[in-house]
Amino acid sequence: MQNKIILSGIQPSGDLHIGNYLGAIKQWVELQKSHRVFVIIVDLHAITVPQDPEKLHAKTLETAALLLACGIDPKKSVLFIQSHVPAHTELMWILNTMTPIGELERMTQYKDKRQMTNGKGHGTFTGLLNYPVLQAADILLYQPDVVPIGEDQLQHLELTRALARKFNNRFGEAFKEPRPLINNDTKRIMGLDDPSKKISNLMSIYSAFSDLSLADIGKKYHRKEYSEFKKDLNEILVKKLSPIQKKYLELSKDKKSLLATLNSGSKKASKVANQTLTVVKEKVGFVL
Ligand code: TRP
Repeated sequence: MQNKIILSGIQPSGDLHIGNYLGAIKQWVELQKSHRVFVIIVDLHAITVPQDPEKLHAKTLETAALLLACGIDPKKSVLFIQSHVPAHTELMWILNTMTPIGELERMTQYKDKRQMTNGKGHGTFTGLLNYPVLQAADILLYQPDVVPIGEDQLQHLELTRALARKFNNRFGEAFKEPRPLINNDTKRIMGLDDPSKKISNLMSIYSAFSDLSLADIGKKYHRKEYSEFKKDLNEILVKKLSPIQKKYLELSKDKKSLLATLNSGSKKASKVANQTLTVVKEKVGFVL
């Protein structure tokens, strides 16, 4: 996979928990060593469910600072805010004209989120239905080879691939069909709040932060007390996470330079995105 293009997106939720760090970010930080990595902070997706404007603003910047603190290197990777690159919504519109409503209505994430907002008397909005079309635009603009995602996003990636095929067949080659990359090692770290899964989850965390395998850890603590395991895990976490926290605090203090980093990211992203968008517009028949 030398020098392939990798692209992924992250919601600006701000509070990146351990699962997030292990599942996605750690993988991106590894991949950026030998690939061109695009990381999008997806604020346009975030507003498909109700958001408090001040919180959204703060969380978007927090997420950027956390990603940088975790090791996303803006010299190697392109980190940017989705709404800074208008090509995303432009391509989404074009893809909307070839996406069957039925396929969007079948999406599991849509069905779950619709239920969440329905209960609050908001009704269902088209932005939520079209969420996967925007995601397809995010991806296809950058011609990535690989999209690292959680298993819950596979359905969206399938739609992305189907839209790429459909467009290419109808108008001529404009998009690459990207492959998903599911991170199996850390998939497990989802339900930390589910007590029945707690110990195997903690072992997975231990494993991911220490580079010992689950079997090694099993052997190491075979005859020991659970409290000893927990104490060691705690030490490992503090050791690994405190430099991240320190860096995060530094980055958060200097909003101006954080914004400068993000702006330089969106400039680089725009260049690539606009190239694809121009080809798409030409093929569709728009006057340029
Ligand atoms: N829907 C993804 C999630 O909830 C976030 C996302 C938006 C994304 N655009 C993307 C992920 C493009 C990968 C590629 O996790």
